[in-house]
Amino acid sequence: MPATNTRRASARRDRTSATRATEKTNKKANVRRVAAVRGSRYATSPLIETRRSRIHGLGVYAIAPIKKGTRIIEYLGERISHAEADRRYARKANDDGHTFLFIASSRTVIDASVNGNDARFINHSCDPNCEAVIERGRVYIEAIRDIEPGEELGYDYQLTWESTDDPEDLALYACRCGAKNCRGTMLDKEPVDKQKVKQKAKRKSKRKT
Ligand SMILES: C[S@@+](CC[C@H](N)C(=O)[O-])C[C@H]1O[C@@H](n2cnc3c(N)ncnc32)[C@H](O)[C@@H]1O
Ligand SMILES: [Zn+2]
Repeated sequence: MPATNTRRASARRDRTSATRATEKTNKKANVRRVAAVRGSRYATSPLIETRRSRIHGLGVYAIAPIKKGTRIIEYLGERISHAEADRRYARKANDDGHTFLFIASSRTVIDASVNGNDARFINHSCDPNCEAVIERGRVYIEAIRDIEPGEELGYDYQLTWESTDDPEDLALYACRCGAKNCRGTMLDKEPVDKQKVKQKAKRKSKRKT
């Protein structure tokens, strides 16, 4: 983690099977349940409302102008281990993959189906007006540009996947955001295994210089 202890969310986690390989590492770690975060300043927001979305099910919309950089809402829910998330949702992978999970760290997953707030209804967009920011294990949704009232909020889920994942399983994560630059999927641009190889090569070349 960078010195600021803040990192961009690269693992919005809505799925189980495709992330299983990564989670195996976590299972070896000292996983434990962490008490739910209480009393968040960002539990609700007067800037947004939740209603039907053209993208999928419910979505979250601006009801007031939102300035770029505004911290809008915290992604709240029960804080559980990766193993517990797998236990709860292993079957979902064969279904439609819909869950309210978000990876907050290598140890903690937030399950917003328990004590979750409106943040759980923010849909994925390939042309996002928001991003998820992880700060000291907590996840916040922030505006990355000015947002007009009536606009649907969206951030790039960047769901993690492996190059060895079953294409049929990956097809479950097709995107319907409707953006001109829609990449057709809620999955991250590259599989995690490829990202790791690249990162390793980068570290190696840095050591040489
Ligand atoms: C955290 S929920 C978002 C709220 C959701 N619309 C609902 O009513 O529950 C995430 C799920 O919404 C759906 N979803 C979100 N963004 C989508 C998109 N751009 N295209 C297709 N489905 C999307 C997928 O089923 C995804 O697993
Ligand atoms: Zn899209």
